[in-house]
Amino acid sequence: MGYKRTQDLEINNLNTILKKLEKLHHIKDIHSLINSILAETREITNADAGSIFIKENDKLKFSYVQNDTLFKNDILSNKYIYSNREITIDEKSLAGYVALTDNALIIDNAYNINKKAPYSFNPYFDKISSYKTISMLVIPLKANEGNVVGVLELINAKNEKGEIVSFSEKDKMFAVQFTYYVTVAIERAMMIRDLVYRMIKLSQLRDPEETQEHVNRVGAYSIEIYQKWAENHSVLKNEIENYKDVLRIGAMLHDIGKVGISDVILKKKGPLSKTEYNIMQYHTILGAQVFMNSDSDWEKIATEITLNHHEKWDGTGYPGRIDNISSNNIKLAKGKKQTEIPLSARIVALADVYDALFSKRTYKDPWEEDKVLYYIKDQSGKQFDPEIVNIFFRIYDTIKAIRSKWE
Ligand code: C2E
Ligand code: SIN
Ligand code: SIN
Ligand code: FE
Ligand code: FE
Repeated sequence: MGYKRTQDLEINNLNTILKKLEKLHHIKDIHSLINSILAETREITNADAGSIFIKENDKLKFSYVQNDTLFKNDILSNKYIYSNREITIDEKSLAGYVALTDNALIIDNAYNINKKAPYSFNPYFDKISSYKTISMLVIPLKANEGNVVGVLELINAKNEKGEIVSFSEKDKMFAVQFTYYVTVAIERAMMIRDLVYRMIKLSQLRDPEETQEHVNRVGAYSIEIYQKWAENHSVLKNEIENYKDVLRIGAMLHDIGKVGISDVILKKKGPLSKTEYNIMQYHTILGAQVFMNSDSDWEKIATEITLNHHEKWDGTGYPGRIDNISSNNIKLAKGKKQTEIPLSARIVALADVYDALFSKRTYKDPWEEDKVLYYIKDQSGKQFDPEIVNIFFRIYDTIKAIRSKWE
């Protein structure tokens, strides 16, 4: 197998690289960030595919896959990225070995690894996707203090003719250097993720059903729905990525205002009385009060979502148009209608209700899938934006994959 020349490495391309780095430093969501790091390092090394493992609770979670050969013309194949596979951090797998030893690895042929090596290649993804992995470059991702937070696998380097070749030492040096320069961004994104998880833990103390899994699912459904919506509306790729970045965080925090609702109501076994339900509706306003008056994108979108996620397309939702959400004597108003409701909230409304219907609540048992889907179809144009309902059914494979990733 021949070696290719690493592209874009010379001084006259330094600018391109600095621009790539600059862009990455604005990303806040850890998934978006690592996804972008993968895209950029793949471009630099001309890799056909790649995947990411993120360290969570001492395991490596398979978190993302990019693949030009498989996914180029198939925008509906996102279901692959929501595999719930995880691997132990030990020497047996490539990713585990790299995480453990903190050294990048070049593999010329995944199916012909030296028998003496402690690690071996796991062909799981190749099997489910009929893709053939040959050359690999496996790199540890580190945060500031040097601890490994994830692993990047670049797969199948290609030369100018599009033939698969080995990754070179130069590719390795370069990709390692590149990831080194984004450790600050990784660190910050991890901090935001931890902060969000801690806020959710806090609300879980009050409301045991507001779990990390529920919010992870609602966040993931929301960005997938948005992705298709944005494609339908010809939103620029860059803008799509930026919006997804903050949408996931905002969506995860949709019910944070429930922290301010009394236990008597929050944990009530049966249906709520009219008064109780009225009080419950204030969780939207309380949530918005947490994030309002902020300049950052993710806090702006979190304000939008907390406030509006119970508005309904036909105008029968709550809390309605409120002039001053910081006032301490707020009256609920007539519901907002259609596109008066921000897009983010229209998306989260569907994602949240879908997930709530499927889940057990103190006041209800989980619904059967048929019933859930029937309900959503039936509410198209009433509770939900019909376009979003359409998209939801088009990507239902992906939705289901997300459900099984965080069940
Ligand atoms: P949640 O349990 O997370 O439910 C979120 C939304 O999912 C609900 O918003 C509603 O639109 C939908 N949903 C959940 N369960 C059902 C159901 O059995 N049938 C239908 N048609 N829709 C359902 P909603 O109604 O504005 O409620 C907001 C929150 O208020 C709920 O969040 C829950 O915490 C509380 N809540 C609502 N109804 C009751 C109730 O009857 N008893 C108790 N204890 N809490 C309730
Ligand atoms: C994941 O949530 O595991 C990856 C999805 C994404 O980053 O969009
Ligand atoms: C996997 O894809 O599950 C493992 C990849 C590896 O061998 O590192
Ligand atoms: Fe809510
Ligand atoms: Fe919820």
